[in-house]
Amino acid sequence: MGRVVLLWVLLCASAQAWGQSSEMMDRLAALEKDPAKREQAYAAAEDRILLCSKCHGKDGNSKRDYIPNLAGQNPQYLFDAFEKYVSGERTDFVMNQAAKLLTLQERVNVAFYFSQQKVQPKAEATVLDKTLVEQGAQRFATVCVTCHGPAALGHDGFPRIAGQPRVYLTHALQRYRDKDPSRAGSPMLGVAALLSDEDITALTAYLSQLQPAP
Ligand code: HEC
Ligand code: HEC
Repeated sequence: MGRVVLLWVLLCASAQAWGQSSEMMDRLAALEKDPAKREQAYAAAEDRILLCSKCHGKDGNSKRDYIPNLAGQNPQYLFDAFEKYVSGERTDFVMNQAAKLLTLQERVNVAFYFSQQKVQPKAEATVLDKTLVEQGAQRFATVCVTCHGPAALGHDGFPRIAGQPRVYLTHALQRYRDKDPSRAGSPMLGVAALLSDEDITALTAYLSQLQPAP
């Protein structure tokens, strides 16, 4: 009986998340079909990203190594991240406040805008140790590829992690591994629990040097 109730609670929770996510997908699909709406969304987003661009860059390429790139990120993941910052499931002092400044339609526009930008390779990518990168690639292919996809481009709610700054990737993986409350409930907690410092060094070397999506 307890199990049935638990299942019901889980189904309701995911239906709620799905409901919002599917509304967002409908709005995004509408944008994709209609060039006039796309232009409108893009222009509206450009107006709203003044604050965001100070940290994430106007073209979604972050200004600091501890800030994630938003360029080329999957729009659904970007949108889901906003929802988590708004609800407080994911915590970051600036982002919890920044996400609340945007309405639902603005969050769709901004997610769409950043997903359309191109990731610029960082200069550091060229000076990484080849053996380390190779080790990271192997680790990625065994543990991470099922969710983050070939070339780490992700899909839907699974984030693209290719080409993120190495410092950001390292912080994110360490936080998951150490069960930091800022990312409570993430499926990454179980995955990262198994990573050694050496794994994190190799994986972040590999991921940060992966080049922009075609
Ligand atoms: C003062 C700097 C700053 C500003 C301003 C800022 N961000 Fe952020 N943003 C960050 C940092 C740092 C993180 C990583 C926090 C974390 O680990 O959760 C982040 C994370 C994010 C993420 C999650 C990305 C991922 O890969 O998981 C999204 C989406 C995002 N920001 C969008 C925005 C938008 C849209 C705005 C403007 C409304 C904005 N940010 C304003 C610094 C900033
Ligand atoms: C079971 C599926 C799954 C597997 C396996 C998995 N991930 Fe994830 N990963 C996710 C999901 C879903 C998220 C987004 C959830 C969140 O925001 O915490 C995520 C988020 C991340 C992030 C944060 C991205 C950002 O922009 O903040 C990093 C970094 C990451 N994963 C790296 C890895 C690495 C490295 C591996 C292999 C060691 C891996 N993941 C394996 C599902 C997975």
